[in-house]
Amino acid sequence: MNGWSAETADATEMHPLEELRDSALADVAAATDESALDAVRVRYLGRSGSIAAWGEQMKSLSKEEKPVVGKLLNQVRSAVTSALGEAGEKLRAAKESGALAATDISLPGTPDDIGALHPLTQMLDRAIGIFRRMGFALAEGPDVEDEWHCFDALNTAPDHPARNEQDTFFLPDGRLLRTHTSTVQIRTMESAPPPIRVIAPGAAFRRDEVDATHSAQFHQIEGLYVDQRVSVADLKGTLEYFLRELFGPDTAVRFRPHYFPFTEPSFEIDVKSRALKSGEKWIEVCGCGMVHPAVYEEVNRARSDTAYDPEKWTGFAFGLGMDRLAMILFGIPDIRLFAQNDLRFLGQFAG
Ligand code: DAH
Repeated sequence: MNGWSAETADATEMHPLEELRDSALADVAAATDESALDAVRVRYLGRSGSIAAWGEQMKSLSKEEKPVVGKLLNQVRSAVTSALGEAGEKLRAAKESGALAATDISLPGTPDDIGALHPLTQMLDRAIGIFRRMGFALAEGPDVEDEWHCFDALNTAPDHPARNEQDTFFLPDGRLLRTHTSTVQIRTMESAPPPIRVIAPGAAFRRDEVDATHSAQFHQIEGLYVDQRVSVADLKGTLEYFLRELFGPDTAVRFRPHYFPFTEPSFEIDVKSRALKSGEKWIEVCGCGMVHPAVYEEVNRARSDTAYDPEKWTGFAFGLGMDRLAMILFGIPDIRLFAQNDLRFLGQFAG
């Protein structure tokens, strides 16, 4: 084969397989990147590579030559294979350190600013969670309302002071920004017969003098529960449970008689807890009461039916000041902070 035979070769003459090995090792050493190395691998070890061709030729060798050449072939193959492996490792390592060379790993990292929920949203999520456990569904209504949903339907006569133009924002077409979320009580009853058990969180607007506790836009959570034989005891139990879940079991809850046109009797609720920043002070958080029969009558008129028969159905309603609840819960001193978008303030509620 190639003129070489075991008998005629002298000790110093190289077997062609050894020549092949040396040229393969030289090619491996000369490969400067991974694709060049891959080409070398194919040229020698590939299916139609030169080492494979020697495997084919083995068949034609004599009995004496076969074991000698076979052994040599194995040695050459493993020498080339391991040289390829080592060179590949080296090229990969060099590539990685090259990539790292452009990076100064001793530099401080770039801080990742992860967003967080606004404190009002956090407060709302908690409130919704508590009411949901009591079976309340979510309802909603528009911020821009008509006078009927905001006042008339809520038994609020046209001469009621809340209608005074000084107290809310009117649009040129006569509509207004709702002064409370109680509008959603009406919208819910218009769209579905009793029983009803909903809360409606949302924005409300008033032309208030802006100060630490008043803002032209604030937020409320409205509640409405209409069913048979609903009583003041249900109202009291529901709201006491809610306020203790929110502020802690040691929270004292006080119901004070009050007046709202759309409830009778009506109450305001104050809370007090030593666990809160407000400490020993009573703080007003809620208006509530038993839904006034006049409200049912007005809803029936709008529905053109008698679904809300005041003789059959009773219910309670409430309006919680959401900003107020969040201020108490998180010890926030000024309502204006909610809308100022100051990251130094908002960042305190992250995580
Ligand atoms: N809408 C009232 C307000 O904004 C709060 C309120 C009082 C809501 C009594 C109610 C209620 O649902 O029954 O001052």
